[in-house]
Amino acid sequence: MPAIDVAPAAPGASVELTVPGDKSISHRAVLLNAIATGEAQLRNLGPGADVRSSMACMRQLGVEIDERDGVVRVYGEGLDGLRESRPPLDCGNSGTTTRLISGILAGQPFTSVLVGDASLSRRPMARIAKPLRLMGAEVEGDMLPLTIRGGLLRGIEYQPEVASAQVKSCVLLAGLFGGTPTTVVEPVATRDHTERLLRAMGTRVDLDGWRITVWPPDKLEAVDIDVPGDFSSAAFWLVAGLILPDAVVTVRNVGMNESRTGLLDVLAEMGGEIEIRDLRQVGGEPVADLVARHASLRGVTIGGEVIPRLIDEVPVLAVAAALADGTTTIRDAAELRVKESDRISAVARGLSAMGVQAEELPDGLIIRGGASLSGATLETLGDHRLAMAWAIAGLASRDGVRIDDRDCASISYPSFWSDLERFQA
Ligand code: S3P
Repeated sequence: MPAIDVAPAAPGASVELTVPGDKSISHRAVLLNAIATGEAQLRNLGPGADVRSSMACMRQLGVEIDERDGVVRVYGEGLDGLRESRPPLDCGNSGTTTRLISGILAGQPFTSVLVGDASLSRRPMARIAKPLRLMGAEVEGDMLPLTIRGGLLRGIEYQPEVASAQVKSCVLLAGLFGGTPTTVVEPVATRDHTERLLRAMGTRVDLDGWRITVWPPDKLEAVDIDVPGDFSSAAFWLVAGLILPDAVVTVRNVGMNESRTGLLDVLAEMGGEIEIRDLRQVGGEPVADLVARHASLRGVTIGGEVIPRLIDEVPVLAVAAALADGTTTIRDAAELRVKESDRISAVARGLSAMGVQAEELPDGLIIRGGASLSGATLETLGDHRLAMAWAIAGLASRDGVRIDDRDCASISYPSFWSDLERFQA
């Protein structure tokens, strides 16, 4: 677990970069093509360890996946072609792998055991075990290790208690194996990459507000995917562009799916308008180039429907809030407590260490802005998004920061630290 020191940014940073392929879309591209019919070519697939966990699990279930010249080829085994794996399936640090693959495994006529690292083993799985049991699968455990004895399922109508794209996707994927349609009624809309990809693969998916119905198909058609850059990775650089004096930061080829870009709305409300250039469609998802320029930010109060649209961006938004004028209040974000770490308490602790007044709420944070960030040693708790948010804080700090673990960034963004150096030249 090597630490890393991040020095303040060089003044007037003018940086142009691209970010890795979207992690959420990459998981779905691998998992769904693995149970499709035909060969899929995936370009710009997210290079992080989480997507690797999805690939490794599918290989263990008998799916051939090869990688050549930057193209990942998935040779789909069809809806009924997976094979039982004797060794447990290791989901590593990846909640998305665990929850999405569980939906698929619930429809297979064999037993699977899912395991993961220490962080993943603390995360709640009852939220998927419950609907899968209702559909007829036998699921043992409400946390990892999870044992799933799958088989023929029945379609259900299900209202998850939490707004979670992973839970929604799990149920919809199990719904592929139901004898009748399956409906998920979301409490608040979450990212819709699963629905989009299922449709692109020829599956009937009916959308009616926050009500989504999947019809069990005879097969999924394999689809080639050119994965857009990950908005959640771009977010770090966009905030850097806004908070660093005289900075101009351009991030090219960023996924702009509305269910992911709540941060842009909130930053605009804070006075940090991000320029959107050349908005276009790539493989059924909107993509654009984004330009962030230094701006004076003001505090903001957020909660409700925007939260799932920026849930992974809260740590870096908190860094922006610390430097804004006035107070920022974030509510309705209790889900942050069950991410790769408890991000509410970790963010409050890290900001406090840098001299910011930050207070925990059960479901969010109150951050008194206008601070300058002092040097500190910051904890990641092995959480990639904390590591990267702290790096942006370090760039904006007076004396630089020490971050206790550089390696965890590779969960989603292996080249993060070399990209960061471009702000220090
Ligand atoms: C994801 C959904 C979100 C998000 C995670 C990726 C997905 O999790 O935080 O990083 O790809 O479906 P929840 O569904 O638990 O909110």
